[in-house]
Amino acid sequence: MTRENIDSILQEDRQFSPTAEFTTAARIKNMGDLEALKRQAEQDHEGFWANLARQEISWQSPFETILNSDNAPHFSWFEDGMLNVSYNCLDRHLDAKSGKTAIIFEGEKGDVCTLTYAELHREVCRFGNALRANGIEKGDRAVIYMPMIPEAVIAMQACARIGAIHSVVFGGFSAESLKDRIEDAGAKLLITADGGFRGGKIVELKQAADKALDRGCPTVEKSIVFKRTAHDVSWTEGRDVWWHDAIAGQSSSCDPVWVGSEQPLFLLYTSGSTGKPKGIQHSSAGYLLNTITTMKWVFDIHDDDIFWCTADVGWVTGHSYVAYGPLAVGATVVMYEGAPTVPDAGRFWALCERHGVTIFYTAPTAIRALMKCGEEIPSKYDLSSLRLLGTVGEPINPEAWMWYHRIIGQERCPIVDTWWQTETGAHMIAPVPGAVVTKPGSCTLPLPGIDAGVVDEQGNDITEPDKGGYLVIKKPWPSMLRTIWGDDQRYVDTYWSKFDGKYYLAGDSARRDKDGYFWIMGRIDDVLNVSGHRLGTMEVESALVANEKVAEAAVVGHPDPIKGEGIFAFVVLKGERPTGGIDEALTAALRNWVGEQIGPIAKPDDIRYADNLPKTRSGKIMRRLLRAIASGEEITQDTSTLENEDILKQLRGET
Ligand code: WT7
Repeated sequence: MTRENIDSILQEDRQFSPTAEFTTAARIKNMGDLEALKRQAEQDHEGFWANLARQEISWQSPFETILNSDNAPHFSWFEDGMLNVSYNCLDRHLDAKSGKTAIIFEGEKGDVCTLTYAELHREVCRFGNALRANGIEKGDRAVIYMPMIPEAVIAMQACARIGAIHSVVFGGFSAESLKDRIEDAGAKLLITADGGFRGGKIVELKQAADKALDRGCPTVEKSIVFKRTAHDVSWTEGRDVWWHDAIAGQSSSCDPVWVGSEQPLFLLYTSGSTGKPKGIQHSSAGYLLNTITTMKWVFDIHDDDIFWCTADVGWVTGHSYVAYGPLAVGATVVMYEGAPTVPDAGRFWALCERHGVTIFYTAPTAIRALMKCGEEIPSKYDLSSLRLLGTVGEPINPEAWMWYHRIIGQERCPIVDTWWQTETGAHMIAPVPGAVVTKPGSCTLPLPGIDAGVVDEQGNDITEPDKGGYLVIKKPWPSMLRTIWGDDQRYVDTYWSKFDGKYYLAGDSARRDKDGYFWIMGRIDDVLNVSGHRLGTMEVESALVANEKVAEAAVVGHPDPIKGEGIFAFVVLKGERPTGGIDEALTAALRNWVGEQIGPIAKPDDIRYADNLPKTRSGKIMRRLLRAIASGEEITQDTSTLENEDILKQLRGET
């Protein structure tokens, strides 16, 4: 184990059962029914998923083969079936619910618009035809770099419709990050906007997109630009096309391209332990299936629900629970463009009241930030429409859980704490809210058909309660990642080599309590979780050393009350170390530099300068030591191998 926190001291024994009112209306009403489902899956793993795939997906032609493990650890599911994901999200609802609201959108400035299923279908078709007119065909990659507006979902669905592979890049990432992702994906098209409204400002998406395309991205032929802000932007004739021009005159019907189950639906880049983000590749049918099953099991979705997942479509959460899952089950989904604090910290609750949100899903970091603003704010709003709450992205501290439960859920709404990853595509460990008793801080139990475990260094099950170990998934599941785009070896090495191809290694440590509940303890690799977003320490280090003044850098996480984890950087300069190890101007400049290289979320909170970094004899940076320093903890490890003990003082900021 690489992390010292592996033996947890967390003690939380409060338990919460769903109310009778919730249970009566729930899809799965008790543990007996849930356990029966789990038993079915245990007895016949493939049969279980095959039945669900037949029930939940509209196939153009059915599959015979369920799971193909011939090329393990490359697995395929339902490989000889043909389908279209956009057809499953739109067309199949048109008979029964063409007039039902699919998307309720609210802009940061308060503008509201809604799209029915028929309208969304029409817009997706028109944009699908526009993509074709711009030379996009099945298998081509299109990068989407957009604000949180319905057109982002329309673009994703349109790609799915014509069999193109999208890769959404979060609008908060910099031009440099965008360029890296476009180049890695070999994208032919960039879909962006002139800007977006967030935090009372315009997010200059087009400016960043221009920078990215001007600096590289030789494969990009066209850029389709949605006009959102209507402020002046620069324009490259021949390359840039306005969205409204692209769809002008396009037909509102667009035949879906039937694809094989394994056709990649999207790539989504996420951080790992190296400087280079990984393009996580997802499939069509398997991915779709688990977004549907989890919408039903975990979100207990009903026809009259108003479902709001606050995640941006730039993250996997916004893929599975904004752009695909809710539409695949014919639900009404809320999208909000802006920041949670504009005009004030009541914005989320105002949206819940205005749109009658029944299911609300957000990140612990947002809950903590809003909790800090006081209970008076949510108490001004009518939150009685809410019936279910959810969290995702990091372990939720029991204090925030209790606040969410009391103040937002008014002790009436179950909370589903959902553990999953970009790689898993959908929830893996989460309570089924009508059945499972919840405990603040625990994501509870694996879902039916998900064989999760906690194992030791040798891969043996840890049976002792509360003893930490590696979180693994022991059997393939339909929405698992298929590979890392362009780097198959890294896929094998990262996820399968630790336990010789037997288990999927999640990269988290976890423990199970006496009731078998899972408690996630943190990452085991050099990955940080900043505000529920994954960032590699190596990425931030590479960004720092790319600056001309920096010789060496080491980045670690330190506990942050709102963000969960903050970024702390130790830097060795090429020139003189600043007196006392402090140089505010340089620190500000380096923070901005990292912001430009990666994006504002990657800016270190603090930078400390030293003449050297502490290394082991073999030259490895002693990160554990740096983590202790960054968290202000006492140093317990052996530091006798340090060439210069004085460095410790420098790193601590004492000299
Ligand atoms: C990592 C995945 C999955 C969408 C958001 C993040 C952490 C995620 C939980 C949770 C404890 C959690 C894990 C995981 N994580 N959900 N409910 N409890 N930790 O996706 O960027 O792929 O990050 O987020 O460390 O490995 P991601």
